[in-house]
Amino acid sequence: MARRLVREKLEEWGLDDMVDPAELIVSELVSNALKTGGLTFMQVAIRRPARGYVRVFVRDGSRELPVLMEAGVDEECHRGLALVHHLTGGRWGAMLDPRGKSVHADLPVP
Ligand SMILES: Nc1ncnc2c1ncn2[C@@H]1O[C@H](COP(=O)(O)OP(=O)(O)OP(=O)(O)O)[C@@H](O)[C@H]1O
Ligand SMILES: [Mg+2]
Repeated sequence: MARRLVREKLEEWGLDDMVDPAELIVSELVSNALKTGGLTFMQVAIRRPARGYVRVFVRDGSRELPVLMEAGVDEECHRGLALVHHLTGGRWGAMLDPRGKSVHADLPVP
């Protein structure tokens, strides 16, 4: 559902070239939310706050914050945020709110 939301909005905005990286990002953020606060609630959103970039948000019901980890070569986990970090050029972050937090990632419009 999150991937579809992101794809449909980007296509509506004429930003088809951004669909692949945006789907990857939202998949990683939703997977993370499911492991923690997504069990209580989750919200997924995509916005275009300015012409130059698109912001993907995933909000969940845990006040634990995401941590960028450096996965070892043989490790199979801890790669999701590293991928988000790479795709956004480091433009991602998290904000606490009373019920949990929201993690966002910004993708530049090509
Ligand atoms: N939404 C979240 N809520 C709480 N903690 C988070 C959240 N997202 C990430 N984290 C923390 O940050 C760590 C790193 O996240 P990351 O996505 O890089 O790795 P992972 O989810 O453990 O493994 P992978 O994404 O490779 O399956 C997680 O192990 C978790 O401790
Ligand atoms: Mg992950």
